[in-house]
Amino acid sequence: MQMNWKKLIVASLVSSFALTSGCTKKNSNEIVVGHFGSMTGSDATFGQSTDDGIRLAIDQANAAGGVNGKKIKLITMDTQGKSEEAASVVTRLIEQEKVVAVLGEVASTRSLAAAPIAQAKKIPMITPSSTNPKVTEVGDYVFRVCFIDPFQGTVMAKFAVENLKAKKVAILREVSSDYSMGLSDFFIAKFKELGGEIVADASYQNQDKDFKAQLTQIKSKNPEAIFVPGYYTQVGLIARQARELGIKAPLMGGDGWDSSKLFEIGGEAVNGGYFSNHYSTDSTDPAAIEFMTKFKAKYNKSPDGLSAAGYDAAQILVAALKTLPEITPSALRDAIAKTTNFPGATGNITINEQRNATKSAVVVQVQGPTNKFITSIAP
Ligand code: PHE
Repeated sequence: MQMNWKKLIVASLVSSFALTSGCTKKNSNEIVVGHFGSMTGSDATFGQSTDDGIRLAIDQANAAGGVNGKKIKLITMDTQGKSEEAASVVTRLIEQEKVVAVLGEVASTRSLAAAPIAQAKKIPMITPSSTNPKVTEVGDYVFRVCFIDPFQGTVMAKFAVENLKAKKVAILREVSSDYSMGLSDFFIAKFKELGGEIVADASYQNQDKDFKAQLTQIKSKNPEAIFVPGYYTQVGLIARQARELGIKAPLMGGDGWDSSKLFEIGGEAVNGGYFSNHYSTDSTDPAAIEFMTKFKAKYNKSPDGLSAAGYDAAQILVAALKTLPEITPSALRDAIAKTTNFPGATGNITINEQRNATKSAVVVQVQGPTNKFITSIAP
C-alpha cells in the first residue's frame, strides 16, 4: 500500500513537471535546433561523436554573435539506437521544443523512421551521415551532407578488384539494417560488373553476438576478401570470430566501422581491415585541418568521421539560417537546398537536386587505434 502511494506521488510530480516544462514560453531571442542521435545503446559512439561535432559548430556560431543577433540553442535527444525512439524524439523536438530544424540520425534505418515525421510537419531535417538512398527520397524537407551508398559500394568494389586483386568475395550483412542491406547490394552489383564472383552471401540479426555458423559457411568457400558492411560493435565481434576460425582473408567494410571502439572490441583481429569513410584525420584540406584543430582544443581528442559530418551538417544549417531575414520552414528549406561549394571538414559540399551531396570518399586501413589513409576516390 505504502509503495503505491509513493509511486503515485512520484508519478504526479513527474507529470506536473512535464506540464510546466511543456508550457514554458518560447524565448524569442533563441533559435532552437534539435539533434536526435544514439547517445546510448549498441552504437553510442555514433550519436556521441556526432553531438560533439554539432556542438562545436553551434558554440562557434554563438561565440561569433549567433544568427542575426539570436543565439542558437541545441537540444539533443537520445534515440537509444532504436527506430521507434527516433520517431518519438523527433516528434517531441518538433511539437514540444519547436525546433526550426532537426539534425540526425547516423543510422539510415533510424533516419528513415524519423524522416516521414519531419516531412509531414515541414521541418527541415539534415542527416550528417545516413547514406542509404531512400532517406532523402522521403521528401523535399529531408537533406544529407554525405555521399550515398551506390557510390560507397562502388568505391569498395573497385578497391577489392584494383587494390586487393580479389576475384572471389564473401558478404556478411545485417538483415535489419537498410544501410547494411543496401550497401551490400550496391557492392555486389559493381563487383560482378568488374568480373568478380560472390562466393557467399550470409546475414545476421541486429542483436546477434555469435557469427560462427555464418563464418564457417563463408570459410568453406575460400573467399579472398570478406565484405562486412555493419556497425562497429558487431564488426569487432565478427572479426574476432573469423580469426578464431582460422579465416585469414582481409575484411572490408563501409563507414559503419568508424568508431574508436572498433579496435577496442575487435583488437588485433580488425587490424589490417579496410573501410570507406567520409573523412580521414590525415586530410590536408584546410577546412579539415581547421576543424581538427578546433575539435582537439575543445575536446582534447581526435575527431572521427561522425564528428566531422555532424559539424558540417550544423555549419550548413547555420549558414542557411544566416541568409534569412525571417525564419520560416519553407524559406529555411529553400536556403539549405541552395548550399553550393560549402567548404566542409568532410570536403566541399554541394547539395544536389536529390538533396544529397556529391563528394569524394576515402579508404582507410585499421592500424591499431588509428586508421591510416590509403586512397581518396572522387565521384
Ligand atoms: N552511413 C551509415 C548508415 O547510413 C551510418 C554511419 C555513417 C556510420 C558514418 C558510421 C559513420 O547507416
